[in-house]
Amino acid sequence: APWRATILTLYPEMFPGPLGVSLSGDALTRGDWTLEARNIREHGLGRHRSVDDTPAGGGAGMVLRCDVLAAAIDAATGADDQRPRLLMSPRGRPLTQARVRDLAGGPGALIVCGRFEGVDERVIEGRSLEEVSIGDYVLSGGEIAALVVLDACVRLLPGVMGKMESGIEESFEGGLLEYPHYTRPRDWESRAIPDVLSSGNHAAIARWRRAEAERITAERRPDLPGGSRRDQAASKSITG
Ligand code: ADE
Repeated sequence: APWRATILTLYPEMFPGPLGVSLSGDALTRGDWTLEARNIREHGLGRHRSVDDTPAGGGAGMVLRCDVLAAAIDAATGADDQRPRLLMSPRGRPLTQARVRDLAGGPGALIVCGRFEGVDERVIEGRSLEEVSIGDYVLSGGEIAALVVLDACVRLLPGVMGKMESGIEESFEGGLLEYPHYTRPRDWESRAIPDVLSSGNHAAIARWRRAEAERITAERRPDLPGGSRRDQAASKSITG
């Protein structure tokens, strides 16, 4: 069965968006994965199909109603649905490549896109929603965050990336950021490609790349597992 994505949103027209082109779009057309974007408002209340209300206890903004979202979730999921249910939110656990691999290896995902100030806490508990953040910044809604999750998952599905870097994840999985890449021309605006890359010495090239990956990781992301390996030769000039 194809990997199955269901999105619950107030803006279903935002999907598939950028995922309708390129590798993910081709995979969608092939049926390697499916995408269903459902409008939460179809379960809204009253003549105006209301989905939100003012926060209990007062304060600014509006809160997505638990009964409305629960109805949307229940209508989108059968009793046999084994998929994880994510709620995109800046207060969620940060998304990691390890979580992406787990998701991509499963049957798919149900992704709820938050809007407004938040979602009534009771439906998060009552429908087992796992809050996920894509980073420490605030988007205007969960839709773009959901697209990020889907892109990260879909590229890992069998057949989607062809013979590209589909195997081990160069960055993050090894705890290291990628080494620098170069291609022709060899000389460009007084910048030459590092000599070792033209040496034909594959062991030397592998050593250089590892050292560069460690230097760059230590500089930019000392928090990563590979970010404190300063024991290698090429830890050239780090101030941190
Ligand atoms: N919704 C708004 N901001 C978000 C973020 N940083 N991650 C996930 N969902 C969000």
